[in-house]
Amino acid sequence: HYFAVIMAGGGGTRLWPLSRQHHPKHMIRLGGDQSFFQQTVERLKGLISTKHILVVTVKEQASELQLQCPEIPAENYLLEPFPKGTASVVGLASVAIYARDPEATMIVLPSDHVIKNVEAFQHLAKSAYRLAQEKRLVTLGIKPTRASTGYGYIQRGEFLGYYENLPAFRVVKFTEKPDRETAQHFIESGNYDWNSGIFIWRVDQIRQEIQTSMPELYDAMERLSLVWNTGHWIKAVQQEWANLKTETIDYGIMEKTSRAVVLPAEGLGWNDVGAWDSFFEVFEPDESGNVLHQSKHLGLSTNNTLVVSEKPERVIVTIGVNDLIIVDTSDALLVCSKEQVQRVKEIVALFREG
Ligand code: GDD
Ligand code: MG
Repeated sequence: HYFAVIMAGGGGTRLWPLSRQHHPKHMIRLGGDQSFFQQTVERLKGLISTKHILVVTVKEQASELQLQCPEIPAENYLLEPFPKGTASVVGLASVAIYARDPEATMIVLPSDHVIKNVEAFQHLAKSAYRLAQEKRLVTLGIKPTRASTGYGYIQRGEFLGYYENLPAFRVVKFTEKPDRETAQHFIESGNYDWNSGIFIWRVDQIRQEIQTSMPELYDAMERLSLVWNTGHWIKAVQQEWANLKTETIDYGIMEKTSRAVVLPAEGLGWNDVGAWDSFFEVFEPDESGNVLHQSKHLGLSTNNTLVVSEKPERVIVTIGVNDLIIVDTSDALLVCSKEQVQRVKEIVALFREG
């Protein structure tokens, strides 16, 4: 069977004040009437049946997510007591999938993406399924547009052939979130893709990779397998989560494996809605470069500015400003220079410290 694992437990602090601790970014409805999480589920229609879609999330987020997607069986929501990074997410999902079908293939999906071309996505997912049967760890590669330090970079190697008419390449090196200088160098060399964060592999293969590169996580998975589908599960997860090291799949597995391959994902219309500036790519700016989201905005001499509002009846006026991010919610207002959007998370950290 083809299973999907949706990772939906992150915080999304850079999208404050719309994204909040108990209402993080994948739950908010920004690109239409569906939340990013709902869009992620929707994208799988016709490809993977809902009974094979698993959602890994943290306790506090579970009930809201279940409300948003009641068509996914309740037992397919796997709960973490607290976030431990995406490697543990994959580990937990692998336990559940392996118990149901040890020959399964899984597609691992973040829930903070916009993908405009669903048809292209499904074509890639089918091609990746074929590749995964050759014991490969497949990633979808995105053509980079700038030297971002927020992504993983994939160095393309040898051409491996066509899978469902799509070309696949061996990954020479996977570098997660390089520093600016390294990212610049990668971009200039032209031989790199961004890691989309979407992975496809067989469950038996990822188990093997975890055993090799993250033996402690593997041992935890083995212990959890013994209590899968029993009344001891929740307690056991709690215990393992208390001891596990927080780690991402990118650092923990992708940087270490020699079995990674990349499928260049052309025409996907992919975007990681990480920080407010990504809105300029996700939505069409008007002729002055402004993006207005659900807001009644009146601007004089206003350029390259994003205005997002939770209250569409409220008028927001700007005069003579450029390169601003304005996000207005019922209890907080953000005004930030476009250049410094990455710093929004610093504010959230300050709040959390008290
Ligand atoms: N359940 C759960 N628990 N989900 C988590 C956890 C966790 O501990 N940590 C993160 N997630 C979810 C997030 O909600 C998100 O949907 C997804 O996992 C990826 O996590 P991010 O924190 O958004 O990762 P990133 O964007 O910094 O980096 C990843 O994605 C990039 C592309 O968007 C990496 O894979 C990069 O290599 C990649 O370029
Ligand atoms: Mg992300």
